Amino acid sequence: MTDGVDDESFAHDPVMCDEIVEMFGPVPPGVVVDATLGGGGHADALLRARRDLDLVGIDQDDTAIAAAGRRLTAHGDRVTLRRARFDGLGIALDELGIESVVGVLFDLGVSSPQFDRADRGFSYRADGPLDMRMDASNDLTAADLVNDAEAGELASILRRYADERHAGRIARAIVAARPVSGTAELAEIVRNAIPAATRRTGGHPAKRTFQALRIAVNRELDVIEPALTQAIELLVPTGRGAVLSYHSGEDRIVKRVLRDNERTAVGPRHMPVTAPATGAIRLIFRNGRKPSSEEIERNPRAASARLRAFEKVAA
Ligand SMILES: C[S@@+](CC[C@H](N)C(=O)[O-])C[C@H]1O[C@@H](n2cnc3c(N)ncnc32)[C@H](O)[C@@H]1O
Repeated sequence: MTDGVDDESFAHDPVMCDEIVEMFGPVPPGVVVDATLGGGGHADALLRARRDLDLVGIDQDDTAIAAAGRRLTAHGDRVTLRRARFDGLGIALDELGIESVVGVLFDLGVSSPQFDRADRGFSYRADGPLDMRMDASNDLTAADLVNDAEAGELASILRRYADERHAGRIARAIVAARPVSGTAELAEIVRNAIPAATRRTGGHPAKRTFQALRIAVNRELDVIEPALTQAIELLVPTGRGAVLSYHSGEDRIVKRVLRDNERTAVGPRHMPVTAPATGAIRLIFRNGRKPSSEEIERNPRAASARLRAFEKVAA
């Protein structure tokens, strides 16, 4: 997709789509929530594969809701769309009168059109405003962090959300260059701030800085645990959940929350189990799954994806 992309198309190649459809294969008939609807690619595939499922699609981005609405019209009243943050999953379903669901999908992060449209401010390759908000009604923008945060706070954002080795240098360079007015200027400041040898290796020098700012602006890591906890709560026994994450910070949280909620029998190792089992889910596979090499070749943005999946167990 190119800059100035037409909203109508919202081209986003759904990642590990066959694996996700297969993963939801055994769930009973009922409602599935796509908590990160985007362009509706996964939602469409699921609705086609399982005629006995209805779908609630949630996204915090108006343009995603509009695009998915167009894409999913063929499924008629099987589809309900809500603009909401997924950490408000329980409230959104409550407002729709839905008490439980048979599946929940989280495809975390940013969609291709959000990345590729220069005017959204996510791209270090094109000039645009320092925005980076998925939800345009949010107060905080990338410009607020870039132009107002103290160097120490900026450096900590770069380290925490992108493991940026040159966080201190980049943060000081940004502060010295204020006011910074757009994404191209920011990318150039970062490029000039890092050592020349580093500039010649790896990907684009500003990639990690942009990733970190985007995560901070959208509070992306803060919402995963509350959202997953609500999803587990809302699932019926044998209902399933799937999470696609795209960087180690996300995957670490997903892995921890799922392990924390895993059903384990409590009791001394050498004794018969006496205490009641705790935890509400079982992991469908233990380690995160990766896309096939064919998929990564077709869609390089899938390269960092990790899929984790779980099933609710009977109380
Ligand atoms: C990777 S895209 C999903 C693509 C989608 N699976 C498809 O097939 O087109 C992620 C979507 O999740 C949305 N999103 C990210 N964080 C969110 C949150 N906390 N609440 C609601 N939506 C969120 C983004 O706006 C984006 O549209």
